[in-house]
Amino acid sequence: ESELTLRPKWITEYIGQDKAKEKLNIFIQAAKGRNESLDHVLLYGPPGLGKTTLANIIANEMGVNIRVTSGPAIERPGDLASILTNLSEGDVLFIDEIHRINRTVEEILYPAMEDFALDIIIGKGPSARSVRLDLSKFTLIGATTRAGLLTSPLRDRFGVMLNLELYDEESLKQIIVRSADILNIRIENEGALEIARRSRGTPRIANRLLKRVRDYAQVVEKGVITWEVAKKGLEILEIDELGLDSVDRRLILTLIENFNGGPVGVDTLSAATGEERITIEDVYEPYLLQIGFLNRTPRGRVVSKKAYDHFGILYTEEQ
Ligand code: ADE
Repeated sequence: ESELTLRPKWITEYIGQDKAKEKLNIFIQAAKGRNESLDHVLLYGPPGLGKTTLANIIANEMGVNIRVTSGPAIERPGDLASILTNLSEGDVLFIDEIHRINRTVEEILYPAMEDFALDIIIGKGPSARSVRLDLSKFTLIGATTRAGLLTSPLRDRFGVMLNLELYDEESLKQIIVRSADILNIRIENEGALEIARRSRGTPRIANRLLKRVRDYAQVVEKGVITWEVAKKGLEILEIDELGLDSVDRRLILTLIENFNGGPVGVDTLSAATGEERITIEDVYEPYLLQIGFLNRTPRGRVVSKKAYDHFGILYTEEQ
């Protein structure tokens, strides 16, 4: 029942992200055919789209071990040095939130990625010297919400860059049906589609909503997630027809009510709503931009007529 069992293990089980999957499949087959390790891979895109899942699939397909860590977890150069020296030939090192790695740690990563070497300084002052330690060849897989958050020297050292995009309804529906099957949840096609519609393009949200609607189906209904059951269950969760939750609604309504629909800078919006700037940018905005409720302009965020209509608020031209 854990997240782990829901994660596909092979690339053929991984639904959606066709462009990323097609490229990745070729690079994996090519590297395997040459008996080489895969080039370093950067996965970027909004949270919850399966970057960790994909890293595990890559390791699995390559037949190697994976070591998982994150940018903020690697505090000192020594932490990274110890991870790197413990990797075996061909292993995958997955660094989630790689944009949050600090400068001194990042500098260890350059020679490690490029030459599979670790430069160690021995001694202090004028007698200090640098010793080069060889590492096993490995594949670094970095994950970040936006490629632009990385410094260019780090970004340039990834041979493969894969952009993950928000999922369409059909892919999300397939993921929900697959997850329901694994979790022994009875669901009808129309029920799965209704949950898919309200999952903001994100499998992590789809799987969470599936579990909560299952709870509702079990306790209040007859256990089967039909379209009606999905609709009622999602209503109780306060997820609207477009999948907007209370934070999405607060962001848009603050823009409309306090700022006449914008344009408003993201820092101002952050102060007015109490949501962190990075959370607004990485978690909420991608979907609101995708459904056309929000537009980015050089002067800030602007709410669209479509959003006014959705909330039943009159839109006037002279915003
Ligand atoms: N679970 C989460 N993401 C998935 C995906 N892309 N394919 C299949 N199952 C998933």
